[in-house]
Amino acid sequence: MRGVIERLSDEGLGILKAGRKEILVPHTAPGDEVEILKTRRKKRKVIASEFKLIRPSNLRTEPLCPYFGLCGGCLLQHIPYEEQVRWKTEKLSRHLNQNVEVLPSPKIFGHRNRIDVVISTSGIGFRRYGTWWDAVDIATCPVFGETSSRVLKSLREFMEDFNLSRYDIRKNEGFLRYIVIREGKFTGELMVNLVTKEGKLPEEFPDYFPYATSVYWSVNKTESDVSYGDIERFWGQEFIREKLGDVVYLIHPNSFFQTNSYQAVNLVRKVSELVDGERVLDLYSGVGTFGVYLAKRGFKVEGVEINPFAVEMAKKNARLNNVEATFKVGRDRDIRNLSNYDTVIVDPPRAGLHPKLIQKILKDGPKTIVYVSCNPKTLARDVEKLAKDYRLEFALGLDMFPHTPHVEAITLLKRFEI
Ligand SMILES: C[S@@+](CC[C@H](N)C(=O)[O-])C[C@H]1O[C@@H](n2cnc3c(N)ncnc32)[C@H](O)[C@@H]1O
Repeated sequence: MRGVIERLSDEGLGILKAGRKEILVPHTAPGDEVEILKTRRKKRKVIASEFKLIRPSNLRTEPLCPYFGLCGGCLLQHIPYEEQVRWKTEKLSRHLNQNVEVLPSPKIFGHRNRIDVVISTSGIGFRRYGTWWDAVDIATCPVFGETSSRVLKSLREFMEDFNLSRYDIRKNEGFLRYIVIREGKFTGELMVNLVTKEGKLPEEFPDYFPYATSVYWSVNKTESDVSYGDIERFWGQEFIREKLGDVVYLIHPNSFFQTNSYQAVNLVRKVSELVDGERVLDLYSGVGTFGVYLAKRGFKVEGVEINPFAVEMAKKNARLNNVEATFKVGRDRDIRNLSNYDTVIVDPPRAGLHPKLIQKILKDGPKTIVYVSCNPKTLARDVEKLAKDYRLEFALGLDMFPHTPHVEAITLLKRFEI
């Protein structure tokens, strides 16, 4: 069947209307005329797995990356950046039912501080779009920047010199599984983490990355396709550092950090502008990204986070920056009294706030809530649930993830005066 792409779905796929049905077509732009050759079903949606571009839309631009369209990493490089931001603005505004500005990313290439490169029998690169087993072989990743080429070249030399096998996910055979590259964009420090199956790694491994600040070897004994494992050894520094404004953060292979450092600076700055009063709860605090930044600005911060390792990292980050914030392991819904805080910051996973936490917020009634979200849908749902007692005073989108459909949002909720 043939037709013209009408608009993009929330997931960033082109929508082609076929009677009352919709076919989602990846890597297309509104106005593209396409011919669908093959489809597959995914969770009640019909997705084109093979199609021909008959007449390109004049909205299109030339993607910078040579692997665009094959690689599963970016979905929107063929759409000019201003148009990507306009689309994210429309999406966020629609979900929140008001006009919301989206702040563009300060950089749209070289902005990612982390890539997880799969080492597989089909290639060294990223998963091929629409597959879980295949990989697109890459020499560089423009979204990460120049250093990716250097690390991938060193890795290939190392593999060739020692004739090391690549992992075959379908057979659970082979040795090398992933190489994770992380870079402190404001410090220039580099971490390389090689993830393997159990086995023997040649001792010369770190010699291939003399320019890296920190080199790790992790082992993933399981069959799950994850890019982390138990730390076997490291060479050089145990952590690399990243800086957001005047705050320094430590990065470890097994800890999360906001992936776009250039925009993360704006994120922490904006959150700190919205915080009111003195006592702040940083809920879902992770490695203390917000908490430590706020403590440095004189706020009295307590952080709560479910992952003990992240809490350990947050404590280290507080010490490193000479601030007094406290961080504890805990669950969102178990916080004792939310009215002990002037402002509660929440930055939950994509699923949004737990219903019991929402009940607790409505019961305890902290005056100010700063809700940071990476999922407009669950954010809108939660804002609606809190609307009985809280007014949405301010909302801002931040594009942390250029060329992907994702958008980060910050909202300020104020309790109605009784
Ligand atoms: C989106 S991340 C926020 C990270 C942090 N704000 C940052 O910028 O680095 C969500 C965090 O919530 C934590 N988390 C998930 N479920 C939780 C729960 N039930 N209670 C507390 N923390 C939880 C995760 O471990 C993760 O660190």
